[in-house]
Order: sequence, then structure tokens, then C-alpha cells
Amino acid sequence: MFEKLKKHWGVDGFNLILILITFACGGSLCGYTARKLLLLINIEKGFIWILVYLLTATIIWPFAVLLVSVPFGQFNFFKGYLNKIKNRIGGQKLPKRSVAIFASGAGSNAEKIIQQMEIAEKAGKGSFKVSLIVCNKPTAGVLSIAANHRIDTLLLEKEQFLNEDGYATELTSRGIEFIVLAGFLWKIPATLIKAFPNNIINIHPALLPKYGGKGMYGDKVHQAVIAAGEKESGISIHYVDEIYDHGNIIFQAKCTVDQNDTPATLAKKIHQLEHQHYPEVIEKLLQMRNSR
Ligand code: GAR
Repeated sequence: MFEKLKKHWGVDGFNLILILITFACGGSLCGYTARKLLLLINIEKGFIWILVYLLTATIIWPFAVLLVSVPFGQFNFFKGYLNKIKNRIGGQKLPKRSVAIFASGAGSNAEKIIQQMEIAEKAGKGSFKVSLIVCNKPTAGVLSIAANHRIDTLLLEKEQFLNEDGYATELTSRGIEFIVLAGFLWKIPATLIKAFPNNIINIHPALLPKYGGKGMYGDKVHQAVIAAGEKESGISIHYVDEIYDHGNIIFQAKCTVDQNDTPATLAKKIHQLEHQHYPEVIEKLLQMRNSR
């Protein structure tokens, strides 16, 4: 249940605890205040009292949780949460974030994310639009996926990416607001991280902080996990900072490593987890951001 909530709200375990405490304290404060107010108007206890109590509590609740959220550092979360409720009640459509997917390889994750966007779009929902596929390899499979889905592509030139502005100007001028790394193998330069603070996420095919860092990608990760005799592996979705595979973790999911697993069979299990969770985590994370 906690894992589901973490994913649903796009928060880590520590913030989830603070959010739940805020809900509990905000709820108690709201109940207490509603009862005190009802004492002032002196209604007899009975059906009408319950009705007025529920109505008063409903009106007070948003203010109570917002108040309590401040000392717990959760004001932004609850502001977004309440806006989301307000928009749902008003039937208002939320804006979509413009996303660039960075990929260097086959692009199976990119494809799942695009499919999620297309399904949501058809249902008149969805929190993001994949506007651009960014790639560093002219032969990468992800470029055909982009063509199949009629999505613009940008082929990176190493010198400009690593030693100039990391294509930050180009990306912002195209209206990109959020970057998703899906099997992208170059290190993200500091200039790009600064241009997109807290707006770049990555997926890593292991349970970070183990088996991350420079040179740890794809099958190399699975080989290391098997060689170490691990009983489980998994995926980590995390924010990107200036150190390889290091930023705050948003979501993790596990799978078993069996005795007869090879890097190829483990990769298959990991890909399944990635495809199941990455599109959904992005959708939820941006839903929360859009409603703020
Ligand atoms: C994915 O398994 C992803 O976790 C991994 O590359 C694969 C890309 O697959 N990324 C890393 O290893 C980053 N350190 P895909 O091209 O089929 O999406």
C-alpha cells in the first residue's frame, strides 16, 4: 500500500510519512475546530447536528491541512493536492508538460512512455506530451520509434553537449519542461541540470545505491548483480544530479534473482518492471506538478 502511495504521489518514503502525518493532524484539527464552532451556535445533537458538523468540517479541512503542512514542509504537496481536487470538481483540464526523452539504444522504455501518453490522450487525460526524442546515436532503434509516432528528434553532437551548454538553450526554446532519461548513456552536464532543476529523471536497472555509477549500464549491471550472488534486483527511478546514479530516489520495484538467471534473463525481468512502472511514475509525478 505504501509503495502504491509513493508512486501515486511521486514522493520518497520520508516525504510520504510527513504527508500521512499532515493528513492525520490536519484531520484532527479540522474535527476539533468544527466541534468548537458548533458549540457556538448551540444546535441540539441529532441528525441536523451531524449534517452541519460534516459540512463545517468539509469547509475547514483544506485550511486545516494547509496550515499543518507548513511545519512539516509539505505545503507545496498539499497546495497541488487541493488544486487537483478543485480542478476535478470544476471539470477543468490540466495543462500538459512538454517532455523530452533522452535515449541511446533500442528505446523500449521510450516506446512504453509514448504509448502511455497516447492512451491517456485518447481518453482526454494525461499530464504530459512527449514532444522530442533526444539521441546521441544515429543508428539507435529509438529513432525509428520516434518516426513511427511522428515525434521530433534531436541528434546530439558530443562537443556541444558536454562542453557547451548541454543543448539547454535549444531544449528551452523548443518549450521542453521536463527531461526523462530512458537508457541514455552520456553523463548529463551540469549546465543542463542547472537549466532543468529537479526536472530530469532517470531509470536505472538495479536497486540503487548499489550497482550504479560510471560504466554501470545495461547488461554490465546485471552481470555485476549475478556475480555478487544477489537474491534480488530491481529498478530505481531517481532525480538526476551531478553524480552518476545518485539523485533522490522517487520509486523502486524489486524482482528475484534466481540461481539459473543469466544477464539476459535478468534483463528481461528488469525490462518488464521498467515498462510496468516508468510510464506510470512519470504520469503521476507530472500530474502532481501540473496541479500546483
Ligand atoms: C534500460 O534497462 C535502462 O534501465 C538502462 O538501459 C536500458 C535501456 O533499454 N539504463 C541504464 O543502464 C542507465 N544506467 P531501452 O532502450 O530498451 O529502453
